[in-house]
Amino acid sequence: MSQRETWATRAGFILAAVGSAVGLGNIWQFPFKTSEYGGATFLVVYLVAALGIGLPAMLAEFVIGRKSNLNAISAFEKLGHRSWKWVGILGVATGFWILSYYSVVGGWVLRYIGGSVTGAYFADPAGYFGQVSAGPEALALHALFMIFVVAIVAGGVEDGIEKATKLMVPSIVVILGVLAVWVFTLPGAAPGYSYFLSPDLSTLSLSVSFDPLPSFSGPLTEIIPFAVSQAFFSLSLGMGAMITYASYVGDDQSLFGDSITVVVFNSAVGILAGLVVIPLLFVQGIEPGSGGAGALFVSLATAFAELPAGRLVGAVFFAVVLIAALSSAISLLEVVVSYAVDNYGARRPQISAALGGLIFLLGIPSAWDTAWLTWFDNLAYQLLLPLSVLGILLFIGWVYGRPAVEELLNGSSMGSGVGVSWLWLVRTVVLLGVILTLALGVQTLFFAENPAIVPPL
Ligand code: TRP
Repeated sequence: MSQRETWATRAGFILAAVGSAVGLGNIWQFPFKTSEYGGATFLVVYLVAALGIGLPAMLAEFVIGRKSNLNAISAFEKLGHRSWKWVGILGVATGFWILSYYSVVGGWVLRYIGGSVTGAYFADPAGYFGQVSAGPEALALHALFMIFVVAIVAGGVEDGIEKATKLMVPSIVVILGVLAVWVFTLPGAAPGYSYFLSPDLSTLSLSVSFDPLPSFSGPLTEIIPFAVSQAFFSLSLGMGAMITYASYVGDDQSLFGDSITVVVFNSAVGILAGLVVIPLLFVQGIEPGSGGAGALFVSLATAFAELPAGRLVGAVFFAVVLIAALSSAISLLEVVVSYAVDNYGARRPQISAALGGLIFLLGIPSAWDTAWLTWFDNLAYQLLLPLSVLGILLFIGWVYGRPAVEELLNGSSMGSGVGVSWLWLVRTVVLLGVILTLALGVQTLFFAENPAIVPPL
């Protein structure tokens, strides 16, 4: 173990964690799910979940990673709880699952950089999206995106990821910021801001009836699983990414401070993306929530086609999205690669390529038909992510317990009261929040009128 790599600098870890967190989740998913599931109400639930559940859960993953110094699966054994290995395995499986379609969307982004430069989508944005988002072209771009990801991960932690994210993260913020200011000056943007930012409190309701099993109704029934899982997805929780990244961190570093930086920064980027995308939808007169997985691409393409300097703005925008997508995809693959490297002495380049190839295969249905992509995505949100986070919280709260508090406080100037409060939060409120999320997700997935689990065959 003594030869295991570590981050070269403290900023290296924070940047990599932020780079993992900020991605298509913030720029593609967040605005499109926000506009699909209730606008500002979604935003409220998302923010509560990010701070109230995401932050404590991230600390839990950091603790597991740093204490064990191992990948997400072996970590549980090292901490003396072999039987909890399933949490790590579920996490890795979730990562595999998510990366398979994440890479397809990454391929769309690649296509849209080119499409912006040449103006290919200007004449018929919806038709263009239909053409490039599914079928042979999407498949080729999915492959190309996966090749980029494999190339970076094969380079190793310091050479590949650390250097790459140092460049990626700041450019994302600058470009999104400039775009947000530009959108603000457009006529017709105002209703977008109110849809996004001022919640209708009457939609914050949920009722439950027992018959004899609980069944939920009310506007929050759908909003909660999507908004809470959005927080997990967007913070890279529930698949061992943060466990793996924290395993390269030294004991002298405050996990507390780092997690707050990541959560605040990540939500800020999501909101920044929302401030670009959602008003833009309104400027173009596009109904919020009418476009599914293609909403972002079609609406922005319409915008870039009509707005001055659209080619340049479009190319710049999609280049930023690509940067963000790559840095996240890297962390998804890194989880699996580090497991194979730690356990089987696998060589990094070979194993990265082999696993990248497998993930590519799993993504073929999503690349072929967006209905499959939506199906993969729903399953991740309504089942895999909440289940996986639930496993982490149960483990830290009720199995590992007190030693987690000590590990959390290493390298931090916090008093032990803060650590103990964290543990009790994890054991109670946070845990209940995730159980509710999972229950609502399972209800829509399996027991709704049109159960979402039925594959689009
Ligand atoms: N957080 C990334 C995003 O917002 C996606 C991601 C990277 C992820 N690693 C993850 C999601 C681990 C869930 C689990 O785009």
